[in-house]
Amino acid sequence: RSSAPARTKKHMLKLVILGDSGVGKTSLMNRYHSNKFTGQYKATIGADFLSKHVSITDQTGNVRNVTLQIWDTAGQERFQSLGVAFYRGADAVALVYDVGDAKSFDHLDNWRGEFLRQVGIDEIGANFPFILLGNKIDRPEGERQVPRQQAEEWCQRAGLGSMGGPIPHFETSAKTAENVEGAFLELATLAVLHE
Ligand code: GTP
Ligand code: MG
Repeated sequence: RSSAPARTKKHMLKLVILGDSGVGKTSLMNRYHSNKFTGQYKATIGADFLSKHVSITDQTGNVRNVTLQIWDTAGQERFQSLGVAFYRGADAVALVYDVGDAKSFDHLDNWRGEFLRQVGIDEIGANFPFILLGNKIDRPEGERQVPRQQAEEWCQRAGLGSMGGPIPHFETSAKTAENVEGAFLELATLAVLHE
């Protein structure tokens, strides 16, 4: 009789949102969690999480009911006091930039590298589930500073060796809700597949 060793599946998945200040990390989390948006900016201090129950289909086609613990972190350096502690135990990470802010895109390597360093994963050939979100896609097209193709090239490069393919990329708007649900579902699914 052959039976695979019993393996306890997690009921709680920790998802971490990283990226520069002002790109819309808090707004994305609030849109996904509560379907709310405010145009007012209030800097995140330290980090905070919200929980959400979802059903995810895993690789064997089984539907899994899991609780997502979504950690929203501070983009501003002076508010990153507890940094490392928030990264620990992450099951998947969303890296966020603003499509209208080239600097926020340029800093993605730092966010990715710093995360991997903090959790002790070798950056070369890192096998960790990331997704990339280009937020504020509702901005007028004239304000776009990061072409979609440039982001996809970054995903090819940064994704080499991780989960065998490029990092998934979504252009989102926390303001209009475009692609927000789909992006978090992909993030949660990656976390489940990575277990
Ligand atoms: P920190 O907490 O400092 O790291 O910033 P953050 O990444 O959490 O940014 P936050 O969600 O607070 O959003 C910053 C500003 O951008 C706020 O004024 C939001 O209303 C605005 N914003 C966020 N998402 C969008 C979006 O999709 N479209 C537009 N037009 N504005 C957005
Ligand atoms: Mg914030």
